[in-house]
Amino acid sequence: MGVVRFGVSLEEPLLQKFDELIDQKGYANRSQAIRDLIRDLLVRETWEAGEGEVVGAITIVYRHDAYGVSKKLTKLQHGFLGRILSTLHVHLDEHHCLEVVVARGFPGEVREIANALISAKGVLHGGMVATGIAK
Ligand code: NI
Ligand code: NI
Repeated sequence: MGVVRFGVSLEEPLLQKFDELIDQKGYANRSQAIRDLIRDLLVRETWEAGEGEVVGAITIVYRHDAYGVSKKLTKLQHGFLGRILSTLHVHLDEHHCLEVVVARGFPGEVREIANALISAKGVLHGGMVATGIAK
């Protein structure tokens, strides 16, 4: 893929703040940081538009021995067959488990899966990283 150069004009204080921030974040240069910002915007736009395929990395923490939550979560996930690509399970301690569920589909579908898992009774903490392929 060809690379195009373009100029950006902006106020100096803004550029200074930007440079400080991207330095903190570990970017090698402005181009890399701007590329990431653009990709983030494109992924967010796909999520907001509700069209196109997106990916959600859904994280949940729960007590495996409470409220039949293990059974419930397994049943939920089997109900979204084809949309859930993979599930990673980690036994955090004697009672607590962490699962990372990766789902792919239209934004509405992925959100539905995330909501169902995160709001399930017995889930103590949950969240989703809304991502996708930014071409
Ligand atoms: Ni299963
Ligand atoms: Ni476990």
